[in-house]
Amino acid sequence: MRRFNKLSLIVSVLLIGSTGCLKKEAVADTNNSQKVQVKEIKAEELSYRNKSLSSEDGVAEAIPNADYGKDVAGTSKKIDRAFDNAPPMIPHDVADMLPITKTSNMCLDCHMPEIAPTVGATSIPKTHFTNFRPKVEYKNGNFAREVDDQAGKVVKHELGELYQGRFNCTQCHAPQAVADPLVENKFQGAFRNNTGKASSNLMNTINEGVVAE
Ligand code: HEC
Ligand code: HEC
Repeated sequence: MRRFNKLSLIVSVLLIGSTGCLKKEAVADTNNSQKVQVKEIKAEELSYRNKSLSSEDGVAEAIPNADYGKDVAGTSKKIDRAFDNAPPMIPHDVADMLPITKTSNMCLDCHMPEIAPTVGATSIPKTHFTNFRPKVEYKNGNFAREVDDQAGKVVKHELGELYQGRFNCTQCHAPQAVADPLVENKFQGAFRNNTGKASSNLMNTINEGVVAE
């Protein structure tokens, strides 16, 4: 069922991408050959931005002032994870910490494992100090992926430093704003144990369900 939902989302995105609007397909009623009325939703009605998807002009002004949390780091209340091993959302103000660049990243000042416990922050987990991409080597006229030698296991290169594919924290961790949702969300995350709402254990479980071909 979940797979189906994902698929329809992808289809919708493709539709929006190709036509600029979402169309409900007209379906012929086989009994009386009447057609279901077509309801067209324009790109301008899809979200808070309410602007064409093919231009960024005026988008920043169109989005209503979202009420971002102003609690300073160290005084905010953590938010429950949305599902098992979901990236936690940022409960504190980040206004003065952005943009993040490869050479300037204030998040690390408090969240690196050697500092985090002393300031009451959650440590950056081991997954972020690991490169999960298999190495590819050109051997005897063929490209050999390291994964072929490790069938049934996720490749892990533990680096001992932050993997630079993760330097941009807010790519995955989002600060939260108070805003009325345009679409009701009934999603309820599933957790395998009662610590999952407040912590992750992906590094220990990453091989679960991975089977050798
Ligand atoms: C001055 C120290 C400090 C800085 C800088 C900082 N944080 Fe935090 N962060 C904290 C503390 C402390 C908490 C725990 C909540 C609290 O006490 O406010 C926290 C909580 C979080 C959480 C929630 C963790 C959980 O277990 O739910 C995330 C995610 C997070 N921060 C991400 C970031 C990102 C991304 C940045 C950079 C944009 C950043 N933080 C910068 C101190 C900091
Ligand atoms: C590519 C997406 C991605 C990026 C980029 C990323 N994270 Fe995460 N983060 C996750 C996911 C997914 C989890 C939960 C699973 C896990 O522990 O790996 C997580 C978990 C965390 C946790 C909670 C750890 C725990 O034990 O509960 C903290 C803190 C955190 N990240 C901080 C950061 C900081 C700081 C950065 C920037 C240096 C960052 N993350 C960059 C995806 C990301």
